[in-house]
Amino acid sequence: MKHLTTSQVSTIDQQHIWHPYSSLTNPIPAYHVVSAEGVRLKLADGRELIDGMASWWSAIHGYNHPELNAAIKHQIDTMSHVMFGGITHEPAAKLAQTLVDITPAGLEKVFFSDSGSVGVEVALKMAIQYWYSQGNSEKSRILSLRKGYHGDTFGAMSVCDPVTGMHHLFNNTLAKQLFTESPRCGFNDTWNESHIADIKSQLVKHHHELAAVILEPILQGTGGMHFYSPTYLKRVRELCDEYDVLLIADEIATGFGRTGKLFACEWAGISPDILCLGKALTGGYMTLAATLCTTKVSDGICHGEAGVFMHGPTFMGNPLACSAANASIELLLNSNWEEQIAAIEGQLKSGLAPAKNYSHVTDVRCLGAVGVIELKESVDVATIQKQFVDKGIWVRPFGSRVYVMPPYIISSQDLDTLTNNMLKVVEFYK
Ligand SMILES: Cc1ncc(COP(=O)(O)O)c(C=O)c1O
Repeated sequence: MKHLTTSQVSTIDQQHIWHPYSSLTNPIPAYHVVSAEGVRLKLADGRELIDGMASWWSAIHGYNHPELNAAIKHQIDTMSHVMFGGITHEPAAKLAQTLVDITPAGLEKVFFSDSGSVGVEVALKMAIQYWYSQGNSEKSRILSLRKGYHGDTFGAMSVCDPVTGMHHLFNNTLAKQLFTESPRCGFNDTWNESHIADIKSQLVKHHHELAAVILEPILQGTGGMHFYSPTYLKRVRELCDEYDVLLIADEIATGFGRTGKLFACEWAGISPDILCLGKALTGGYMTLAATLCTTKVSDGICHGEAGVFMHGPTFMGNPLACSAANASIELLLNSNWEEQIAAIEGQLKSGLAPAKNYSHVTDVRCLGAVGVIELKESVDVATIQKQFVDKGIWVRPFGSRVYVMPPYIISSQDLDTLTNNMLKVVEFYK
């Protein structure tokens, strides 16, 4: 295969390629990464960056990991892909059993799909088909939280915050869902029943038309990087039971240890009826999502008029992705991930604390392997990104939040460099 020069890559990129949320008439040059190893991204110009993003929170073991590489290479030599209709295989069976074993109790059935957003679509369809199958087609709307983010496809967009969820220009086309205020109680705040008043009143008023509540447990990610009280989650679970509404937990960002528990639902000791997983599921190697549900939900669906769940993507259960996921989960569970993440949390807290004294910073907060500096005003991503790169770190803020979610394998020295250089940039950013 003939290779492209660096300048050819750059020209083609700017002329032809959409990047996430990007313009093609005013393209911002993308950084050309030629390789990645451990927690470092290597640029075409030879510079190396310490990665604070874990490729949007997914590369928990870092890059080019020998065990993940070996698992995928072995799978390539066996079978890269085969349709899942009427066929099964060991990588999918192994992964399904592991997910049933490690996720909160009661989640027994697994639906594999291609990406987080599709995993959310699957969850919404499961909830709606469940009630339809009970002869209750009126229960077809979803109650979601303000500041929530669940993905970019149409169903997922409909449950993102309608104002800040980046999708308001599609509002005329999106399904009309219901929204409740975002949790007002921070992770460590003293609980007060008034914190649950709004969602309770929505459930009282609308439960007859609600299929499910969807939320990101403990951490509202892309919608603002806010951590909220486990009691809120616990009370929502109780209210869903009381008003006969399913609970969908979207753990696409929080799953696999990110908040300090294997799954964020564990902070509240709850099990959802439906659980969405993605991102770190494969250690950031391949795109894969899993939507798990209880037997009550699967039985409800399959005893209904259709008799089957109405979904089935071409690349469902892709063996390469499943084998990456199997290797990644094994690696995680065999590591001392709880200590690693507790250490990262401690270091993020002390490393980012000086930012609390900057006049243009409103808050600094950390939980697990997540550290957030919130500024008074939104940053210009291209400008600040260049400053981070010049300091040898990869940090990509959104809005007014400058945050890091590093790979769990980051050394304390690299984490120091990451937080110190973040502070240097943030302190003088105007
Ligand atoms: C909580 C949550 N749900 C869903 C998604 C969508 O996942 P994907 O980008 O893989 O479609 C994201 C992505 O950031 C997310 O954070």
